[in-house]
Amino acid sequence: MKMNMSDKSILLIIGGGIAAYKALLLIRLLAKKGIKVRAIVSKGGAKFVTPLSVGALTGETVYTDLFSLSDEAEMGHIELSRSADLICVVPATADLMAKAAQGLAGDLASTTLLATDRQVLYAPAMNVRMWEHDATQRNIEILRERGSAFVGPDEGDMACGEHGFGRMAEPEIILTKIEKLLKGETHIDALKPKPLAGKHVLITAGPTHEAIDPVRYLANRSSGKQGYAVARACAGLGARVSLVSGPVALPAPTGVDVISVESARDMLAACEAALPADIFVAVAAVADWRAARTVSKKIKKDDGKLLPLELEENPDILKTICAHEQRPKLVVGFAAETNDVIANAQIKLAKKTCDWIVANDVSGDVMGGDDNTMIIVTKAGATPWPTMSKQRAAQKLALEIASQFGKV
Ligand code: C5P
Repeated sequence: MKMNMSDKSILLIIGGGIAAYKALLLIRLLAKKGIKVRAIVSKGGAKFVTPLSVGALTGETVYTDLFSLSDEAEMGHIELSRSADLICVVPATADLMAKAAQGLAGDLASTTLLATDRQVLYAPAMNVRMWEHDATQRNIEILRERGSAFVGPDEGDMACGEHGFGRMAEPEIILTKIEKLLKGETHIDALKPKPLAGKHVLITAGPTHEAIDPVRYLANRSSGKQGYAVARACAGLGARVSLVSGPVALPAPTGVDVISVESARDMLAACEAALPADIFVAVAAVADWRAARTVSKKIKKDDGKLLPLELEENPDILKTICAHEQRPKLVVGFAAETNDVIANAQIKLAKKTCDWIVANDVSGDVMGGDDNTMIIVTKAGATPWPTMSKQRAAQKLALEIASQFGKV
């Protein structure tokens, strides 16, 4: 049944980004459908499109300022926030979404988003690095959890000259999404499939700490960023994620079950306890050795004398899980190498009997850094990926896992 849209209204919040010009095209498309549009142009938005053009296209008063007497006299901000069937933020900048996620209300756009009881649709648009930043992704998770809808962004060339995710969805696509929402269709993003829904993904991340005495331990430089990004990406594709994490200074990704451990042996026990899983991704930089003896009291320094430190080998978690009677169907290991990256990864693949090895060259500042250059090594060969942020690499890996899962 065709629905009459002429009794529907939208409150359009135009954020400050180059994609703001597309909001003008969207207003025209909405007008053609008979949908009434009222608009708020943020301070940044007004640098890209003038409130005059917006007013000319909507035929309505355009609101710009929380503290403007004329704006407030026309319609108070609380009333404005409830005046439409749907609020659309086009373009949704990183700043506007951060404000909305944190509940800030320092200007008219953010106050409206905090005061509203209406469905909100965000059409994000920003530089790829800003889009991929953990802060932005976390804010989006928060907004999504609160029931907000999203359209885009798309992958492509950007106004800033870079290429990647961050291009705002085209006005026609935004219109389709708006119509669906106005018809009351589910706001779960149909454009964003959940290919890992129903799957349990077990992931290890971070370093392990191997105690020498109550204050000293053996460790490595792993930050946990890559493993946490993989966990977030798998959860984003709908998986139930158990993240067994060594000591890191990272917040728990939303919707991920984090099991915090210290040592390699704890990590193995936690992984075994988390089975069965469909997929295992071993990202952790597990310490290869631990102190053969740990003491319960702090070892005293004895001037001039060195501490004899005898080491013994830690269990290989990846190898153990691969040989486990509940072996997950797809097992992915990581291999940090400084030389002969592919050859060493191939040896590791065979030795550990996993399905893939994600090899990375850590001769640069990968450990602790934000970028990664990965090579996906399988029995069939090696596929190098270009250098990209750990977040983006994790998303690409999660998609690869989702698409190959049924085929292994
Ligand atoms: O042997 P190597 O440490 O280079 O292998 C790296 C891969 O093996 C990673 O996936 C890492 O998480 C995993 N690993 C493990 N347990 C160990 C050592 C490594 O799970 N004790």
